[in-house]
Amino acid sequence: METKAGGASVKAWKIAGFSAAALGAIFLACGLLVDFGAYNVAADAPHSAPVFWLMNEIRSHSIAVRSRDIALPAGFGTPTQVSAGAGLYADMCGGCHLAPGMERTEISQGLYPAAPELSRPTGLTPQEEFWIIKHGVKMTGMAAWGKTHSDTLIWDMVAFVQTLPSLTPQQYQALVKSAPADHDEMMKDMNGMPDMNGMPGMQHGGHH
Ligand code: HEC
Repeated sequence: METKAGGASVKAWKIAGFSAAALGAIFLACGLLVDFGAYNVAADAPHSAPVFWLMNEIRSHSIAVRSRDIALPAGFGTPTQVSAGAGLYADMCGGCHLAPGMERTEISQGLYPAAPELSRPTGLTPQEEFWIIKHGVKMTGMAAWGKTHSDTLIWDMVAFVQTLPSLTPQQYQALVKSAPADHDEMMKDMNGMPDMNGMPGMQHGGHH
């Protein structure tokens, strides 16, 4: 019995030693790849298929797990919320995510990963959209709007984003016009993003 147990533990040590050496080799290889700048981080050079797959898996599982316990507020999706969300969206989001009837902006063409056009359904739950808008997504252009906006305002934006795929350009413009003025006032004080109000011909493209 004793020798058998002894043999098993020698075997276990051998496996552990081999695993440690293999792990060391992998770390060394990764370190060298990093050191030599082997991976191209340029936004105009798409990820290789395995890296793209890995990033996408990390992203979607991370968002799904973290938004699981978010409760949908009672009465979510009222016309008031949708119209408030439209004003916020036109001010802060359309520049990257575009809107019905809007030409592609310069930033929307240069972003990588691209900002999905939100006039197409995202396939995300409202809770997932809330989480993304509030917390943003690392190493993408998607900012954490929760740093400067209350949960109430973020739910307004979610309500609007849920409605967006069903809107014609005219309906979109009408909704933006119907947005409460106080939101516009508030956004004027925000530094950072230019005021992109989503109207073709009214984008800030005059620097050519
Ligand atoms: C500077 C550009 C930029 C701005 C401005 C921006 N976003 Fe994003 N957004 C992105 C990018 C890039 C992604 C994709 C992130 C990724 O690949 O994980 C994204 C992802 C999203 C998603 C997830 C879409 C999907 O199908 O996965 C939602 C919802 C979203 N943004 C909403 C908003 C809202 C609402 C605003 C305005 C408050 C906004 N974004 C402003 C760049 C932007």
